[in-house]
Amino acid sequence: MKVTVVGAGNVGATCADVLAYREIATEVVLLDIREGFAEGKALDISQKAPIDLYDTRTIGCTNDYTKTANSEVVVITSGLPRKPGMTRDDLIATNAGIVGAVTEQVVKYSPNAIIIVVSNPLDVMTYQAHLVSKLPRNRVIGMAGILDTARYRSFISEELNVSPKDIQAVLLGGHGDTMVPLPRYTTVGGIPVTELIAADKLQSILERTKRGGGELVKLMGTSAWYAPGSAAAQMVEAIVKDQKRVFPVCMQLQGEFGVKDCYLGVPVVLGKNGVERILEIKLNEAELAMLKDSEKAVKAVMQVLDGQRAK
Ligand SMILES: NC(=O)c1ccc[n+]([C@@H]2O[C@H](COP(=O)([O-])OP(=O)(O)OC[C@H]3O[C@@H](n4cnc5c(N)ncnc54)[C@H](O)[C@@H]3O)[C@@H](O)[C@H]2O)c1
Repeated sequence: MKVTVVGAGNVGATCADVLAYREIATEVVLLDIREGFAEGKALDISQKAPIDLYDTRTIGCTNDYTKTANSEVVVITSGLPRKPGMTRDDLIATNAGIVGAVTEQVVKYSPNAIIIVVSNPLDVMTYQAHLVSKLPRNRVIGMAGILDTARYRSFISEELNVSPKDIQAVLLGGHGDTMVPLPRYTTVGGIPVTELIAADKLQSILERTKRGGGELVKLMGTSAWYAPGSAAAQMVEAIVKDQKRVFPVCMQLQGEFGVKDCYLGVPVVLGKNGVERILEIKLNEAELAMLKDSEKAVKAVMQVLDGQRAK
């Protein structure tokens, strides 16, 4: 069971580490464009194995895709974070270039892989990888919903002083500001959260969740990696172990929830074929309106990418 992680930066290296120490894969290949960087991170992960007792083989390489051949799953984390003075459109162009070039190489050497995109802007980078790979939509998916729901669940657990294990939730829509929270589908040990947390408090938790990424950037000067890396590894696990886990995942919608030709987070069943089923739950009017707003926001960014591609 071979898994490749492209990008050995903060998120990629964390994901590779989780895949290794939790023995989710038997072989993890970490690839980066920076000379020696992935080799160093892989060596460090390998040297932790005798301490933490795992036998996953972790290897690193500098842009050598032959080493990634026949991977079952490939996680793409390569991309730049937004730098001061960089416009959003610059970031889209840069990261779309990186994600596109990486995807081409990935499918050349691992034509049967399932691709999990992590690079930002997430929904649109998933679009880019899907276009370039020409794989069916169930095999090119983006990680955002697990992270966003994890943040929401952790805030609820803190508020109620209960274990985060007992909090179940689902969110829809784009990553970040335009996510669509569904408090009526949030439970604490089976109890609807609306029975336990007052509406105004829950609303402030939801607002904090939407700005969850920004809160961390403000504190650390860069975006998060522990939770994003673990979230991507959890998606890999669901696929390689054919677990049929139910997760919010970003993918191309073709009419589900009334949305067409747009990449948004929706609850799915994740197994050995990637997305095996979309769980098209009923939404009320307010939720549908929020999803429409999310669709509009993501489509606007997709159009920026389409415009750049046409040049
Ligand atoms: N989807 C999410 O929820 C989520 C969460 C956190 C971060 N992110 C995104 O993930 C990406 C990675 O974040 P990070 O903190 O790990 O950044 P990072 O800068 O630490 O790592 C990125 C790595 O990508 C490598 N890279 C660049 N171009 C490459 C190429 N062509 N081929 C191979 N490797 C290449 C860089 O050398 C670097 O090591 C960013 O776009 C970030 O915004 C997404």
